[in-house]
Amino acid sequence: MNVSASARMELFRSFDSAPLATASMAQVHRAVLHDGSPAVVKVQRPGVRQRIEIDIEVLHEVARFLTKYTALGARYGIAQMVRELEHSLSQELDFRQEGENTRTIGRQIAGFLRLTTPTVYSEYTARRVLTLSFVRGRHLSEIPRGELTALDAPRDREGPALGLPQADRDRRHLPLRPASG
Ligand SMILES: Nc1ncnc2c1ncn2[C@@H]1O[C@H](COP(=O)(O)OP(=O)(O)OP(=O)(O)O)[C@@H](O)[C@H]1O
Ligand SMILES: [Mg+2]
Repeated sequence: MNVSASARMELFRSFDSAPLATASMAQVHRAVLHDGSPAVVKVQRPGVRQRIEIDIEVLHEVARFLTKYTALGARYGIAQMVRELEHSLSQELDFRQEGENTRTIGRQIAGFLRLTTPTVYSEYTARRVLTLSFVRGRHLSEIPRGELTALDAPRDREGPALGLPQADRDRRHLPLRPASG
């Protein structure tokens, strides 16, 4: 990705150039901060914003056409749908926003012993780079429904009474996805 080797060495004690995970918008690399904290660095692919802006412009054009010339366009509020899509994508493209959302969710789940969100390292975060503490555990999307129901218990109700398999009763954390993606 577009992070020069010298910048990586200056900012991090170590930085794995092979990504831990890749997706269409970003890839995630493991790294270690200078103070020794294990971290992950999510780096947005170059050109993603520009491509999305072009796609959105095309969608606005289609929505204008449908609104003007068809009954369906107005009935389904297509122009408004495109505006909402534009807003949510623009939030998703700004990793500072994802960092903020991560913090907000972290506060909201503070009472749940077995849920956690990563710490956001703001000084290593920008619009296209999000640096988080490395979290060991399972992503919320990997948790089966039955287990999720059992997790729906604040700290004071936590304990063996939940009836989870023994292996799940340790303090393994569940990375929680930020609301914006
Ligand atoms: N803080 C973290 N600690 C450990 N692994 C992480 C962390 N953040 C992301 N990862 C790994 O990188 C993958 C991709 O992360 P990314 O944030 O792009 O997508 P996601 O977390 O799977 O989905 P979303 O963020 O949209 O909920 C994750 O599925 C997870 O395996
Ligand atoms: Mg994530």
